[in-house]
Order: sequence, then structure tokens, then C-alpha cells
Amino acid sequence: MQIFIDSADIEEIRDAAAMGVVDGVTTNPSLVAKTGRPFKDVLIDICEVIDGPISAEVIATDYDGMMTEARSLAKMHKNIVVKIPLIAEGLKAVRTLTEEGIRTNVTLCFSPTQGLLAAKAGATYISPFIGRIDDISGNGMEIVEQLVTIYQNYGLPTQVLAASIRHPVHVVQASLIGAHVATLPHKVIHQLVKHPLTDSGLERFLADAKKIPTS
Ligand code: E4P
Repeated sequence: MQIFIDSADIEEIRDAAAMGVVDGVTTNPSLVAKTGRPFKDVLIDICEVIDGPISAEVIATDYDGMMTEARSLAKMHKNIVVKIPLIAEGLKAVRTLTEEGIRTNVTLCFSPTQGLLAAKAGATYISPFIGRIDDISGNGMEIVEQLVTIYQNYGLPTQVLAASIRHPVHVVQASLIGAHVATLPHKVIHQLVKHPLTDSGLERFLADAKKIPTS
């Protein structure tokens, strides 16, 4: 499973990239707004740090507006993947962008039927939002499982990108199901590294190392 970082914070992205575990980046308008920086400046910085797919979301909700933004974003860098919301106008844009060879990440997916349509339209990635479904007492991971099965059944090349991940168990479940990608907040990447037995084991080794005679 590929791991993307779900962040627009360049320091977080640099930190995770230095560990060698980041294959790509997803951003969204809320994450970019948190940085307090212009969208294009944020994207340029990310493209310099990560050599992998970098999702950048359009703001327009009509076909023409989405196409204008998408073409402009795609021109910025070869690694930009255009994020398109899962609405009817969005599917039309995905269809044209696919014909033009521009990669898309269809976002805000909350049902397997939405995901099926996104794949039919030619989406490169589909982003089911697991955590937001769990937040309203649903089972977000079930949609990841359904999408992986549906795409396998019909040989659809769209990749399932498990999004809105909240904790390490989501990561384990997504990888067992066979999601192609999971996009993780910086905090979750660090949660995956940590284990109390690693910390206590290291502490003991370091204490014992001090007892070793130097000659
Ligand atoms: C994915 O591309 C989205 O940016 C993200 O995973 C949304 O997560 P949230 O539900 O924590 O905002």
C-alpha cells in the first residue's frame, strides 16, 4: 500500500519525507487555509520536496470552472493530480480530464455507487472518507472494502485511496483490505512508528551500553 501524507504543512511533509515513507501528498482547501499561505506557493514547495502524486483541489463547482482550474493546476508540475468533488459536474470534468491525460483524485466519496461512477468516468484515484463516515456512526472501512471488490470485479484501474484516516487501526484495516493508497495525517504517521516496548527496550539497551567496559 502506498502512503501519502494528508497535509499542506511543508514542515510536516519534510519530516515525514525524511523518514522515507511518503509516496505522495493530498491537500484540500481546509488544509491549505490552515497554512495561511497562497495555494500556489504551498504547491510549489510541496512539489520541491516530494517526487510523487500531489493532489490539489479545484474550488469551482461547475464544469467550465473546474476545467479551467484543473488545466492550470496540471500545468504547474508533472506530479499534480487534480482533486475533483464527487458531483455530477465533477464527473463530467473527470471524463474530459482523463481524455486529456490529466490525472484526477475524486474526493468526498461516501458510497460505493459514487465510487463506481467515478471509476467509469476515468478517475485515477477515488477517495472514500472513512473518518467522516465513522463520525456519524457509519462504517467507513466498509466502503473501502466494497470499492476494492467492485474495481477488482470489473478490472477498473481506478485506485482506492483511503482518506479521512483518524488512527493507526484505520491504516491496518485499509492495508488488509487491499486499498492501493492511504493518506495519513502527520500525527498518524508518527503514531505508526511508536511502540512502548521499542522505547523501553531502547532505554534498557542504552543503560546497559554504559556498563560495557571501554577497554
Ligand atoms: C483527503 O484527501 C482529505 O484531504 C482528507 O483525508 C480529509 O480528512 P478529514 O476528514 O480528517 O478532514
